[in-house]
Amino acid sequence: MNAALTPAQLLTSLEWRYATKAFDTRKLPDATWAALEESLRLTPSSFGLQPWKFLVIADPAVRAKLRPVSWNQTQVTDASHLVVFARRTEVTEQDVNEFFQQMVAERQADPAALEPYRQMMIGGVVKGKDPAAQKEWAARQLYIALGQLMGAAAALAVDTCALEGIDPAAYTEILGLQGTGYEVVVACAVGYRSGADKYAQLKKIRYPKARVIAQV
Ligand SMILES: Cc1cc2nc3c(=O)[nH]c(=O)nc-3n(C[C@H](O)[C@H](O)[C@H](O)COP(=O)(O)O)c2cc1C
Repeated sequence: MNAALTPAQLLTSLEWRYATKAFDTRKLPDATWAALEESLRLTPSSFGLQPWKFLVIADPAVRAKLRPVSWNQTQVTDASHLVVFARRTEVTEQDVNEFFQQMVAERQADPAALEPYRQMMIGGVVKGKDPAAQKEWAARQLYIALGQLMGAAAALAVDTCALEGIDPAAYTEILGLQGTGYEVVVACAVGYRSGADKYAQLKKIRYPKARVIAQV
């Protein structure tokens, strides 16, 4: 049974969350973090191809190195957890095949019956996109994971701050990702808000429903 939040509970969580500027030193309980990590792994992606790696930066020394290349944002060093989202630098036929083989094995499927799907993935992502378009596609998948992490965290009363204010190339270098087939796009701090964070009190600025939702 998939226990649902009530609509009111969901909205309470989404209104409670805000881009946390100041985290305190509390660490997330292990079970809470494990669930959020699973929210990353369970993120849906186009064709299911999962062109990503999520780096959880635990080492305070590494986090200290990342902060100056993050507009010196304190969330990078202070939050309980820091997740860095890296995309595949290119999507290859081998990537498609790895995913395909796992799908065939775990679903005990007939590879011949699924071959049209494999061809669709190769046509759609490997051959159908130039290198720049592949990177752009992979980044879009990462943002789904970022959104899912932030929504899941809010549901667990955990704070987050998405961090685009980072130097992705510097992150890629500091984290030793060059030559691995992955590069950094965005990050997210996860933890608990400091009681002193005045941003928590600010009114949320959102356009009215009539402007952003169209009934067609
Ligand atoms: C992709 C993305 C990147 C962001 N980057 C930063 C950042 O680097 N630093 C920061 O303080 N806030 C960052 N934010 C927070 C936004 O400014 C914030 O979500 C927006 O103003 C709406 O406010 P709210 O999240 O508090 O409702 C980012 C948000 C998103 C979605």
